[in-house]
Formats: sequence, structure tokens, C-alpha cells
Amino acid sequence: MNLLVVGGGGREHAIIKKLKENPEVEKIYALPGNGGIASDAECVSEIGAKDIEKIVGFAKEHGIDFAVVAPDDPLALGCVDRLHEIGIACFGPDQKAARIEASKVFSKNLMKKYGIPTAEYAVFNDAKKALSYLKTAEFPMVIKADGLALGKGVLIVQDFEDAKKAVKTIMEDKAFGDSGNEIVIEEFLTGPEVSVLAFTDGKAIVPMVSSMDHKRAGDGDTGLNTGGMGTIAPNPYYTKALADICMDTIFLPTLEAMRLEGCPFKGCLYFGLMMTPNGPKVIEYNCRFGDPETQVVLPLLKTDLLTIMQAVENETLSELKVEWHDGAAACVILASGGYPGSYEKGKVMIIPENMPSNVMIYHAGDKLADGKLVTSGGRVLGVTAAAPALKEALKDAYDVAEKIQFEGKYMRHDIGKKALMTQEV
Ligand code: AMP
Ligand code: GLY
Repeated sequence: MNLLVVGGGGREHAIIKKLKENPEVEKIYALPGNGGIASDAECVSEIGAKDIEKIVGFAKEHGIDFAVVAPDDPLALGCVDRLHEIGIACFGPDQKAARIEASKVFSKNLMKKYGIPTAEYAVFNDAKKALSYLKTAEFPMVIKADGLALGKGVLIVQDFEDAKKAVKTIMEDKAFGDSGNEIVIEEFLTGPEVSVLAFTDGKAIVPMVSSMDHKRAGDGDTGLNTGGMGTIAPNPYYTKALADICMDTIFLPTLEAMRLEGCPFKGCLYFGLMMTPNGPKVIEYNCRFGDPETQVVLPLLKTDLLTIMQAVENETLSELKVEWHDGAAACVILASGGYPGSYEKGKVMIIPENMPSNVMIYHAGDKLADGKLVTSGGRVLGVTAAAPALKEALKDAYDVAEKIQFEGKYMRHDIGKKALMTQEV
């Protein structure tokens, strides 16, 4: 079979490595892929993940049997709809279903209409009205741009002055472009955060192993928000009892809601959850695999990934038994010094050749220049280890992360620390 994977980060590398385990897979094309992915797939760096027409043209010309559209942008732009139109089987939601991530107003209204637990909120498309609402609010509050904003469109404000600045940034300065035409203002929730990715064909839902992201740049959850500096799975805060509550109050109602709205969701649905004192609530939905959650979840998957993706496309997921390996996984992100602010690129990378068999290196931001791998992004590599216990997984991931070299290499040194403390209680 010839496969096509749209995207070019660590998440896509993890997906590609897993897809390759299926003996029927002959060739995988990555659009655009990256320097490290080039060892596992044929990368077409000239076609970006948002070039929908070029992606469709490429799929037609290369006899693609199955396509996986991984990032949010092409999903929101209707890449799956267009591939389906020319008869190509795909994994990923169509454009209408992708609104669950692409529009926060859509997802908040959906949750309200169907009684799915989430933060209380109000929607505004007028800055003056937003400010008069905020005048009487109890702080902290959370202000979110409606549309996609690379994970940066969420501002937590501590007082009215802060809130005024946030509304100006999003609605007047248009820091996130048209994504900020509308805003959601919501109640600030507290509690441990849990990420749950789930396979769904619109009728059945199969949650994957839970995970925990580490979004802030610095140790001890300090510094700026990033795309994610490391992950662990499973998430120790997510007990069986909480998982059952989430299934009944969040996962199944969300599927039903999407069906009733005429946009059944097929693909990977990501639930960003907060375990609040009043029970689990939805912080956000994503219409795709999370990054870097995928880098710890997929290594624990025992069942063949392509088989699951085909069952999702064919709406036969309920007939499939999806199994997981016992144990835990940890992923440590190696970033370019300065990220998420400005950073230098083009640094030559030295990666040890012999690695323990339980360690995987997923390439996120690099490229080949004169045959050498050089850095080309903020998050450069994700070093994942899987082991019987989290402590060993962390040790093995950090051992390799320490050995990789490039100028300016930066990582957090406390990935999984909180999770380990929870386990020890
Ligand atoms: P998002 O980009 O939607 O994932 O939001 C980024 C981060 O902001 C989340 O991971 C949470 O830590 C935080 N956040 C978002 N909404 C809320 C909320 N209502 N209460 C508290 N924290 C929030
Ligand atoms: N790790 C969060 C995300 O993929 O949006």
C-alpha cells in the first residue's frame, strides 16, 4: 500500500514510524515531512501542509491508497473532504467536524447545548461589550480567540487592567489575525490537566492511554507557554473512576452531539480535560492527535495503527479490539535555545548511532543540508522511552537526551516529576 501523511513534526514522525510496522505498507510519502522523517518516509518538502490543492494533486498522481491528515490547519481547510472527493480513503475529520477545534465559539456552544461539562463562558464580537462584561467579573478569567492560533490564543488575565490589554491584543491589534474576530471569555478552572486522545468513527469511541503535557518553557511550570516541552503516559491523575465519568459525561455525549449537529466526527478526537473539584471538565477539543502527546501514546499501542485508522474510515471501529502495552512512556523535547521566543537555526546535530531499543527519537524541527541534519525549528527533537515504569522511562529518555548535541540545545529537566510524586503518594 502507498500511504500519504500530511504534516512535518514530531507527531507525524511518531505516526509514520507506527504505520511502518504494518507489513502491507510499501511506501509512505510525508508532505512536507522533515530532515529526520526522511529516514522513514519519502518527504516532499515543496508541498506544505496547507497546500490543499497540491496535496490532492500529489495523491492523485501517486496512487495513494490511504492518507492521514495530521495537523489542524489542513483539517480546518477541508483537506479530508477534498481527498474524499477524488476517492481517497483518509484518516481525519471533514471540515465541518474539524470546527470542534477550529472554532472555540462552536465548541463552547456545542457543550452548552448538550450539557457537556466545561467552564462557564460568554462570547463577544465587540470589544466594548466584552469590556463591560469584564468590569464585573471575578478574576482570574480566561480570554480566548475564537479560531486557530498555534496554541497561543489563550490569555489568562489576573485583573481588569490585564483583561483590557488582552481584549485589545486579540480584537484590536489582531495578534492572532481573523481568529480574534470573536472571543470567548471564560471562568478560570483549577485542577490537574489530562490529555485524552481517542479514536472514533463517529459511532464508537476508543480512548487511548491518557497523557500529560508540560506546556511551559521552564522547569517548575514557569516561563512562557510553548507547543509542549515533554509528555508522559499514562497520566497518574486519570484514575479508572475518572475515566468512567469522562466516558459517560464527556466522550459519548460529544460524539452524540456532533452526530446530532450533522457533523459526525471521524478521526482522532483530543480531549483537553481538567480534573476540577467539581469533576472533569473540557478545557478544549482538538480535532487531531496532540503534539507531543502522540509521541508517548503511540509507542504504547499494541494493535496495528493502520488497521485502526481503516476501521475508523470504514466505520467498523466497534468490531476491533484495540490493545495497549503495559508500562509507561516519557518524551523529552529538545528545543533551540530561545524558544518559544526567537532562536537561531541551522545548527548541526550529533545524534548517537547506537541507542537502547526502547528509545525512539522523533524529529520535529530539522532538515537535511548537504547531507547533514541541522536544526530548523523551535522544537527540534522528541526523545521518547517506553519502559515498565515511568521512572525508568524518564531515566532512559533523559540519558539519550543528554547525549544528543547541537549548539543551544535546551530542555526541561523536570518532565514527569509531578507525575512521579503523585504515584508515590
Ligand atoms: P489551550 O491552548 O486551549 O490548550 O489552552 C492553553 C492552556 O491554558 C491550557 O492547557 C490550560 O492550562 C489553560 N486554560 C485554558 N482554559 C482554561 C480555563 N478555563 N481555566 C484554567 N486554565 C485554562
Ligand atoms: N499538546 C497540545 C496540542 O497538541 O495542542
